[in-house]
Amino acid sequence: MKVTARARANIALAKYWGKSDDALNLPAVPSVSLTLDPLVTETSVELDEALADDVFELDGAPAGEGETRRVRALLDEVRAAAGATTRARVTSRNDFPTAAGLASSASGFAALAGAASAAYGLDEPLAVLSARARRASASAARSVFGGIVELAAGAPGDDALAARPIAPADHWDLRVVVAITAAGKKPIGSRDAMGESRRSSPYYRAWVEHGHASAPAIARALLERDFATLAPLVEQSFLAMHAVGMAGVPSVLYWQPGSVAAIKTIGVLRAGGLEVCATMDAGPHVKAVCTARCVGDVREALARTEGVRDTLEARIGPGLEVG
Ligand code: PMV
Repeated sequence: MKVTARARANIALAKYWGKSDDALNLPAVPSVSLTLDPLVTETSVELDEALADDVFELDGAPAGEGETRRVRALLDEVRAAAGATTRARVTSRNDFPTAAGLASSASGFAALAGAASAAYGLDEPLAVLSARARRASASAARSVFGGIVELAAGAPGDDALAARPIAPADHWDLRVVVAITAAGKKPIGSRDAMGESRRSSPYYRAWVEHGHASAPAIARALLERDFATLAPLVEQSFLAMHAVGMAGVPSVLYWQPGSVAAIKTIGVLRAGGLEVCATMDAGPHVKAVCTARCVGDVREALARTEGVRDTLEARIGPGLEVG
């Protein structure tokens, strides 16, 4: 039995950063994201009686032990739900440069949740797939759905927590231009970095409090297609998230000179009347969120910005596709 599924990366406009429950991987703050097209991960799950253990191949090569362990953990949950023991061969391919800092774990675990459930013969609602993807990577819960997606904060123990779509992909023709500002691997992954923030940043509690107020405001501005309200809220969310990390011990500083330059470029464009704002995830790249009519100018200006090595463009896309 072999099943293939496709899921897309997403970008949070209201950021998730920090967990309320480490074991269940529950977020301490609500988040709101756009599912992005064409940043697709395609994942196949094939059951194979002959395998002694699960095998995971990523972008044409055997994956490392850490990645394989996370994949196996998700497969174990599916096997438990299906009452099965057969091991699986998992093949995953990212259709976008992983160097772009658009978490391939989000699209990857969403696609895996969809393919694995079907391969083991289960017919589960999307909310169940989203909750399972969340346990692997909280942002992956959001990639199960298309359009504009919300993931609430989870109360400790709330293992059923799933993302939910709040508007379809065609609700508003927003675009995202990614300004790539560095090559190579980032210094620390989001999971470890947000753990440090919670343990040692003096701003962590303020961040959690702020996130609970800001995510609903960002969702409302998106639903009302109100860019003037949206832009400062989106920038405050990512700046607050990065400030929390920077103030931790050890400090987590993802920014490169090109990150600052790109943020400045976006500020100048907005002051000049363009509908554009900045956001950043756990890495040095800057993502400009803009309306469709501004995307040409935004991409051109970012491509000319010192320290920006490359740009790529995305639009809002659909959710998980299985089969
Ligand atoms: O789900 P993770 O562990 O990949 O963490 C994602 C954290 C951010 O990308 C920085 C924010 C977000 O909400 O996607």
